[in-house]
Amino acid sequence: MTGVDLIIFGASGDLSARKLFPALFQLDRAELLPDDLRITAIARDKVAVDVFLDGLRLRMGHYMGGEAPTDSEWRHYSRHFQYVGADFSDGKNYGAVRETLDDTRISLFYLATPPSLFAPICNNLAEQTCLTGDCRIVLEKPIGECLDSSKEVNETLAKYFSERSIYRIDHYLGKETVQNLLALRFANRFINSQWDANCIDHVQISVGEVVGIEGRWSYYDRVGQLRDMVQNHLMQLLCLVAMEPPNSLEAESIRDEKVKIVKALRRIDVNTVSECVVKGQYTQGWAAGAAVPGYLDEAGCEQPQSDTETFIAIKAHVDNWRWAGVPFYLRTGKRVPEKVTEIIIQYKELPHNIFGDGTNIPNKLIIRLQPREGIELTMASKRQTLREKFSLQNHTLDLDFREAADMQRIPDAYERLFLDAINGDQSLFVGREEIEESWRWCDELIAACGQQNIASKPYHAGSWGPSTAELLIEKDGRSWHV
Ligand code: BG6
Repeated sequence: MTGVDLIIFGASGDLSARKLFPALFQLDRAELLPDDLRITAIARDKVAVDVFLDGLRLRMGHYMGGEAPTDSEWRHYSRHFQYVGADFSDGKNYGAVRETLDDTRISLFYLATPPSLFAPICNNLAEQTCLTGDCRIVLEKPIGECLDSSKEVNETLAKYFSERSIYRIDHYLGKETVQNLLALRFANRFINSQWDANCIDHVQISVGEVVGIEGRWSYYDRVGQLRDMVQNHLMQLLCLVAMEPPNSLEAESIRDEKVKIVKALRRIDVNTVSECVVKGQYTQGWAAGAAVPGYLDEAGCEQPQSDTETFIAIKAHVDNWRWAGVPFYLRTGKRVPEKVTEIIIQYKELPHNIFGDGTNIPNKLIIRLQPREGIELTMASKRQTLREKFSLQNHTLDLDFREAADMQRIPDAYERLFLDAINGDQSLFVGREEIEESWRWCDELIAACGQQNIASKPYHAGSWGPSTAELLIEKDGRSWHV
């Protein structure tokens, strides 16, 4: 393979120290980074590479705890690095970037910057002739904050990069357990053959976090939980659960199937929004045993009357042959009681029960994406007793991925994503159409909430959203799994 130059803009930012450089380090430790990979870190401070690396090691150590590099590991990792100290919003500074590039190698530009800098960086790279060789670009959400702004970002990217060279990250796709959804569905015949409206009653996807908005008040207040989590992460999970088997694991095949699901999502409009959407905003309460302030009392609050949702529950439908009549209940919130991402597949009751009243307990498949990654399947079996001829009991088959893994630790999402971007594999990156179709659906939902004045209902920090979120599912005779 041609050598790769990884050029990271925003190298002194929080994401870089918390996720990007630790992920690259773990790959180096596992001997998975190409030996000749060159990492060019770009940040504003005009310092020597050693000074940058000393600072980076300290910050990484803070996040990595017991997994932090030893001296010899750090020496091994540092050999990949060069550093450019420059204000990258200014085109004049790109000469220094140009000097580090080599047209005989692949340039992989990684924009770990605020989205407002995506367009200026691309324009500057082009104007300063940094895009002459084989170039790829990696960027993070948010790709826009609505359909129009996401189109704008995508148009800018398309001016300089073909779709095959654009790697849009949704870090949920890099999580091992999220990829396991593909294995679960398409490598197990018995699961795949029971995966439709004939067998499944409904699906729940819950993504909860104990943390609040973590010092990001002004960003978060503009977007809220729908744009921050549903438009991307929950949408991706929904697609992986609902999509048809792709022809192969090629990026095109997977993306094609995912886009069909987003397009098949029933629009939530003024007529349906009141029965399909519940929004919430946390008030003071508890998180991990400590008292915490409400959203409007968080540091940095600029709008004491803000109605931005920190919790949202949605009843969605995928209008296609496979999923006709099967509701997908989605729920995500900040300051809920636990950090959890799980998908519940609730099977239907048996069509005819021969075991007597109260024994028709439908199977449930619980896919735990984080924490305690694994799968649980509830099943009925006969109770071992002579006192009753047929008494049934429920058992749980529990597959714990951590115990089953042949590795000591489950890799972080960014490790997989870096490896794939370096190797030119786009299958775990998001395509333009998926993003735009997802925004189209979200924009309509947001507009409908506005037209029907769907306000965010208060819920105590440490609870699973407002009580109306329970009603959303209970009025259908169902209940949330947790
Ligand atoms: C990010 C959101 O994309 O995902 C954050 O912007 C959220 O608000 C985070 O906290 C959750 O990611 P994870 O991997 O911790 O579930």
